[in-house]
Amino acid sequence: MDLGIQGKRALVTGAGQGIGKATALALAQEGAVVCVCDINDARGEETKEEIIRQGGSALYIHADVGSEQEIKHLFQTAKAQMGPVDILVNNAAISPKVPFEEIPFEQLEQVMRVNLMGTFLCIQEAVAQMKPRQWGRIISLASMAGRFGANKAGAHYAATKAGIIGLTMTLAKKLGPDHITVNCVAPGRINTELTRVLPEAVQKEICSQIPLGRIGEPSEVASAIAFLASQQASYISGACLDVLGGYIA
Ligand SMILES: NC(=O)c1ccc[n+]([C@@H]2O[C@H](COP(=O)([O-])OP(=O)(O)OC[C@H]3O[C@@H](n4cnc5c(N)ncnc54)[C@H](O)[C@@H]3O)[C@@H](O)[C@H]2O)c1
Repeated sequence: MDLGIQGKRALVTGAGQGIGKATALALAQEGAVVCVCDINDARGEETKEEIIRQGGSALYIHADVGSEQEIKHLFQTAKAQMGPVDILVNNAAISPKVPFEEIPFEQLEQVMRVNLMGTFLCIQEAVAQMKPRQWGRIISLASMAGRFGANKAGAHYAATKAGIIGLTMTLAKKLGPDHITVNCVAPGRINTELTRVLPEAVQKEICSQIPLGRIGEPSEVASAIAFLASQQASYISGACLDVLGGYIA
């Protein structure tokens, strides 16, 4: 299926690895020009190079989405180098696994800054570039933890992901008149470094609870994101698309 995003300009945060990288590759394969953003320059450059090797167009910009200044710089530079952003994927996040009563204030603040405030501020910047063109696609990474509560992840992480769902539904209402759709994707357990740190026994236990019998691959989340970015998804806004392999908590 042609997703109809040839020549659109996409910005993916945290695209150096995992789901973000798979999404950057998927959007580039559909003909979008992709701005890869990360704090890990080596990995971000690698994603960019891979897209170019595959015949796509990409650039890499270093930005910490926990910093308002760096976000502003990211969007200014992206606009100057590729033109205004049409598709924003808010993917960058951190997930420190610390018991609730032991979460220090500084860590709570950092998780809020990167996961929720970063998403909020990136959307503000993107909307300023989308509104004059009266077209836009905003897709943010929520999580099963934000839908049903976290099992292994921290309470602060789950709170940011639930916040992203509320933000998505609100902005779908506010930005609809400007033909900007706002959606999120809630993955279950996906095969990335975030998950690989869990002991093998825990991973086996997790798989036994998933109806499809396995954890998901980053490319399977990327396909859902690419669809929400497509022309075909023009009447989908305010949705949270579960990519959970049938797992319902
Ligand atoms: N992997 C899973 O099982 C799973 C499940 C549910 C939701 N998610 C969500 O999907 C998204 C991607 O997850 P993943 O497993 O691919 O993560 P990951 O840890 O493998 O990759 C995250 C990327 O974000 C970058 N990053 C981290 N902090 C950043 C910052 N401040 N600014 C810019 N970039 C930053 C990292 O360098 C890395 O390249 C996250 O939002 C995560 O919460 C993942």
